[in-house]
Amino acid sequence: MNLTLKIWRQEDAKSPGKMVTYPISNIEGHMSFLEMMDILNDELIEKGEEPVAFDHDCREGICGMCSMYINGEAHGPDRRVTTCQLHMRMFKDGETIHIEPFRANSFPVLKDLMVDRGAFDRIQQAGGYISVNTSGNTQDANSLPIPKADADLAMDAATCIGCGACVATCKNSSAMLFVSAKVSQYALLPQGRVEAKDRVLNMVNQMDIEGFGNCTNTGACEVECPKGISLDNIARMNRELIKAKA
Ligand code: SF4
Ligand code: FES
Repeated sequence: MNLTLKIWRQEDAKSPGKMVTYPISNIEGHMSFLEMMDILNDELIEKGEEPVAFDHDCREGICGMCSMYINGEAHGPDRRVTTCQLHMRMFKDGETIHIEPFRANSFPVLKDLMVDRGAFDRIQQAGGYISVNTSGNTQDANSLPIPKADADLAMDAATCIGCGACVATCKNSSAMLFVSAKVSQYALLPQGRVEAKDRVLNMVNQMDIEGFGNCTNTGACEVECPKGISLDNIARMNRELIKAKA
């Protein structure tokens, strides 16, 4: 395939950015989107130009780093995949592809396609943990029976990789899907009930401090989430919050 890439270039958080056009040739359908970006960067480096900065780590849909907004969709046109899992066969020969960073005031652009998602780390630090006795008297995990249905729902919530696609997709830049997944994975398990009240209060408070918007039940986050995190988690978080405030 021969493609035209229009990529957001921005020197740093304070500089204005702009879309820059790059033609690219000989792209195979089996390549991943990031492999295509690697080829572009090799060509730019050979020409003595600045390569495009983008985040990546695992390249297998686990770390949540590869935050790109591709043709108006977080992680591009495929469903239930991250940008690193997106194949170039999703595009047609001759197509123009627009590539931008995840955009939200709470995710400032660091350079080109890299954004600072430290806000998510601070929300996690506010309550995304449980306290465990590690003094040598740690309970055996199997001594606390957990209904299979609850364990499955907790595991589903725990698959959130903190990529931020939900925020980038939401017209309100809301982080409710992310925060509700983190609250739910503990709220559903007995180990998480001990600090449940403080957890939801502190995490929602930190979410507000970071400047994320509110949920207005559009549901775009659930559609674009690479892990299929359900809106049910937002309803559960709201119930947890009402209980904690009662
Ligand atoms: S809820 Fe989905 S889209 Fe949002 S951070 Fe988690 S995995 Fe990414
Ligand atoms: S690079 Fe880790 S999820 Fe894409």
